[in-house]
Amino acid sequence: MKIGVLGTGGMAAALGGAWTAAGHEVVIGGRSGEHAERIARRIGAAGHSSLRDAAAHGDAVLVAVPATVAPHLVGGLATELVDRTVIDCTNPLVPTNDGLMLDSAGATSVAGQLAAVAPEAHVVKAFNLCHVSIWTLRPPTFENVPLAVPYCADTSTAAAVTETLIGSIGCTAAPCGGLARAASLEATAALAIGLWWSGGQPRAAFPSPGEAPRP
Ligand SMILES: NC(=O)c1ccc[n+]([C@@H]2O[C@H](COP(=O)([O-])OP(=O)(O)OC[C@H]3O[C@@H](n4cnc5c(N)ncnc54)[C@H](OP(=O)(O)O)[C@@H]3O)[C@@H](O)[C@H]2O)c1
Repeated sequence: MKIGVLGTGGMAAALGGAWTAAGHEVVIGGRSGEHAERIARRIGAAGHSSLRDAAAHGDAVLVAVPATVAPHLVGGLATELVDRTVIDCTNPLVPTNDGLMLDSAGATSVAGQLAAVAPEAHVVKAFNLCHVSIWTLRPPTFENVPLAVPYCADTSTAAAVTETLIGSIGCTAAPCGGLARAASLEATAALAIGLWWSGGQPRAAFPSPGEAPRP
């Protein structure tokens, strides 16, 4: 699949690298040509370009910039993103004095804001729950169980593209409903990251009912 990556930071390199290793045609787009070239070379991507050209390249386009930047960036690329699947991995987090994180999105998720500014794109919320280091694992598997990747999407096109991208890096897709639920994924990230930062183990807080010992 052709994938455009908007951003040249940690998530761009980790997910772009995972998809390149899986055989996808990844182009890294950055506001700095030097950064884009460096990351593309490091991960063996097909190429590097401006943000606009990366958006035009991808059947899928990963938005890997700060949440505060994403709506303005995506809005400016709305023409290039028509009919593209736009994957929003951003987390609108605000650090607090007690070490926990607040989700600053309020009523509208970042993903919802992206859908509003690029109404002809297929926006998906995905890949926002795990730390950047997890996406560098080949594959991300824990206790022999592939990582589950929750996602929210409104269209069957976006769901199919997202499931392909998740499956191709050895993970299991976990559909979580439409984009109206993206705020839940963003709030979940805020909770989990806050727990990690304060020394907790969010993973230990979510055993399935099937794991409970029978009375
Ligand atoms: N790090 C994690 O563990 C993690 C996990 C899940 C989700 N996320 C989310 O993923 C997103 C990216 O995180 P990251 O860790 O990759 O961040 P990062 O390493 O700080 O990289 C941010 C990227 O955004 C670019 N950028 C910043 N302002 C921009 C603007 N105005 N226009 C265009 N590009 C701009 C930067 O470009 P320059 O290089 O030119 O400055 C850089 O390439 C964030 O929304 C974050 O919440 C991060």
